[in-house]
Amino acid sequence: MATKNRIRPKYFEYQEKIKKTYQKLKEVYEEIKQSYTEIVFRFALMAEYKDEATGTHLVRIADYSTEIAKGLNLSKKDRYYLRYASPMHDIGKLIVPDNILKKEGGLTPEEREIIKKHTTLGADIFKGSRSPILKVARVIALTHHERYDGTGYPQGLKGKQIPLFGRIVALADVFDALTTKRPYKEPYPFEDAILMVKQEAKRHFDPDIVRAFLRRKKNIKKIWQATKDIESFIAEYSFGNEKGQGS
Ligand SMILES: [Fe+2]
Ligand SMILES: [Fe+2]
Repeated sequence: MATKNRIRPKYFEYQEKIKKTYQKLKEVYEEIKQSYTEIVFRFALMAEYKDEATGTHLVRIADYSTEIAKGLNLSKKDRYYLRYASPMHDIGKLIVPDNILKKEGGLTPEEREIIKKHTTLGADIFKGSRSPILKVARVIALTHHERYDGTGYPQGLKGKQIPLFGRIVALADVFDALTTKRPYKEPYPFEDAILMVKQEAKRHFDPDIVRAFLRRKKNIKKIWQATKDIESFIAEYSFGNEKGQGS
């Protein structure tokens, strides 16, 4: 009995220590996760600013892509990779010379080819990475300008040859370009842009992705209406966080 009484306080002491250590590890892990995703996002922002686009484009790309992934019933893990990798789709623009990227007026065919290289250049940036997010980012950077009918670039892939994440971001990217003001165009109204997406099924877009997008139309509209500012997005931007768009 006496031995048991001596062991008990020690046992509780260890239990308490393990609990505290676990809590500390959890905090450190969350902090690393948060910093990692934020660095990745801010890295993507550099390319976007270079192109004189706005950072909110990246916020919406992440949100639209996540919605499409939900419409496709993708796993939580895939949604999470897509959410964090999709903002980096145009990272290759960091390497495209400014005088071409920012050129006003028409581009020559040669200059257009150089801009198209942002896909392969982006893929090169992530080549060899062992991080699952950056592996997905590589696939997206390389394939987000492929078209379902095979007329896209850089490889002219066709149909389901185009990786799923590339097919998803292709639609999210075009829909956002249609519905926002760009230096060369006014935004199309929401319903007009939806119609254009429908018309491009089997041509630019995978019809399955179009259907998934339309299944989430209510939430797509919410994202379209509420352009979040970058700082508040980053504040929410922790692993697996998809808040604000419903399930
Ligand atoms: Fe692009
Ligand atoms: Fe884009």
